[in-house]
Amino acid sequence: MNLGLIVMATWLFAGWTNASENSGPLVIAHRGARSLAPENTLAAAKLAWRLRADGWELDVRMTKDGELILMHDETLSRTTNAPSLFPNRSPWLVSDFTLAEIKMLDAGSWFVGQDPYGTIATGEVLADEALHFRGEKVPTLNEALTLTKELSFLANIELKSRPSFVLSPQAKTLTDRTVALIREMGLEKSVLISSFDPAILRYLATVAPEIPKGLLVSSPPPEPVSYLQALGVNALNPRYDLVTENLLQTLSMAGFQIYIWTVNEPTDLQRFSSDSHITGIITDWPQRLLAILGRKK
Ligand code: G3P
Ligand code: CA
Repeated sequence: MNLGLIVMATWLFAGWTNASENSGPLVIAHRGARSLAPENTLAAAKLAWRLRADGWELDVRMTKDGELILMHDETLSRTTNAPSLFPNRSPWLVSDFTLAEIKMLDAGSWFVGQDPYGTIATGEVLADEALHFRGEKVPTLNEALTLTKELSFLANIELKSRPSFVLSPQAKTLTDRTVALIREMGLEKSVLISSFDPAILRYLATVAPEIPKGLLVSSPPPEPVSYLQALGVNALNPRYDLVTENLLQTLSMAGFQIYIWTVNEPTDLQRFSSDSHITGIITDWPQRLLAILGRKK
């Protein structure tokens, strides 16, 4: 096999991981650079890219009219002005609003008003820059992936769905529409689909074997290797404070990728940044991790 074929075979096999030119774990900005910009917005993704993160993590939910949007919570109330714009629509479930209604919302002003990470107060986010977040829109998945493609960025797409054994009709639609969009845009090598819902992952393994996928867990399964093999996923995405070196070694030797979340404290970022078993670190503070890795802009 000539060198070109070897490189191509490695790329096809490894997908996501080979997209970074850097050594060390992939730096994945959680919900975008969430400590520096309103989460799950295009502004947060652009900022993560400008910082030179490898990719961003984003949460996907479905609107009342079946459109896919970025939103972490089941409701719109924490990160948008839905309660003031639609006062009679409590509890402001995403699934009760159409895309046209959601596009009327301001998904940025809460960040400027609340300064949830104190980064405006410390000056890490300049007051002038923060003002630009006002009026930021809730993106569709289409808009988020279009930006991902334009920037040659990576996207860890989390499909929000309650964990279940049987695939619900809503979860099936959410998954089918996400897969269709990824294929339409040719982004199979630039995304990792993750979910806490094993039913989604089992389904994905049959309908989209070519798309990398990871099981999100709070506590690792008792027989992780056989469980992940049965699900047909490529990765485990465990909560960082529950992983053991033994688990990391076992999964890595079995050929699974590992993306840990959500690592924010400098001491934890330092410790995990040099662990060769870890494929990627999902963090609210990509700027801290990039500095530790010597990749600061
Ligand atoms: O992908 C890791 C992390 O995003 C999962 O938890 O609640 O932040 O979506 P959550
Ligand atoms: Ca998430």
